[in-house]
Amino acid sequence: MLSGSPSSRVVAQLVASTAATNGVWSTEVVTSATDWRAWHRGYADPGSSLSRRLAAVRGELTRVLAARRGRPTRMVSICAGDGRDTLPVLADGYTDVGAVLIELHQGLSDAARSEVVRLGLPDVEVRTADAGRLDSYAGVPPADVFLACGVFGNITDEDLDATVAALPQLLAAEATVLWTRGSRAGEHDPTRYAGDAADLVREVFARHGFVEDAFIRPGDAPFRVGAHRFRGTPRRPQPGTVLFRFTR
Ligand SMILES: C[S@@+](CC[C@H](N)C(=O)[O-])C[C@H]1O[C@@H](n2cnc3c(N)ncnc32)[C@H](O)[C@@H]1O
Repeated sequence: MLSGSPSSRVVAQLVASTAATNGVWSTEVVTSATDWRAWHRGYADPGSSLSRRLAAVRGELTRVLAARRGRPTRMVSICAGDGRDTLPVLADGYTDVGAVLIELHQGLSDAARSEVVRLGLPDVEVRTADAGRLDSYAGVPPADVFLACGVFGNITDEDLDATVAALPQLLAAEATVLWTRGSRAGEHDPTRYAGDAADLVREVFARHGFVEDAFIRPGDAPFRVGAHRFRGTPRRPQPGTVLFRFTR
């Protein structure tokens, strides 16, 4: 994570909430202690753990989409950043996938929207919205593929549990959830879990009835990538449900 005084890193954003999808706009100020645009500069080094994680996520996403080829596929990516883990994959043979990316940061979501246009993706929507609130998903069909990359290292253990518990409200039957977690995300890691924090994520998914499809734990880097299959029954979204809040 970034260093620097918290005050120099505080970013305040005016966010148009997804009530806009119903034709009614409301606004709220959401603050983040991290400069997420600067965080993305970690991708500039192709040998960094972050760049290697990106390659692993794209590889897993390609594997999952290839296995679904010929079937209509809906994808949701939360805390999607500038969309670099999903959009190039969709452009590379999966332009028929319908996708919604949800990202809170105005500049990053604008960058993702520009990339959607540049790559000519016909059925991708980028929402500038709080993915931690179920109301932000209004009108989004249940996902067959759901990405939560760069999320679980920024939320409490309680919110991790609440998020996975709420996923049946956002998933289609047999959906795959792709996720990432650092073994420990720096000194401000919000988990209280004593071991590799990715193992807690795996435990939580198992406890909520998901089955592990893949788990990548390189021996020489702290990132982990998981893929879990939803084996439960999709549930009707409950308005007002809160999934998570970033702690930094
Ligand atoms: C660690 S980055 C991950 C970005 C991207 N998924 C990736 O792996 O490259 C976390 C992202 O979550 C976004 N974010 C933080 N809180 C959010 C929220 N409540 N809803 C949606 N996005 C959020 C940040 O702006 C940032 O782009």
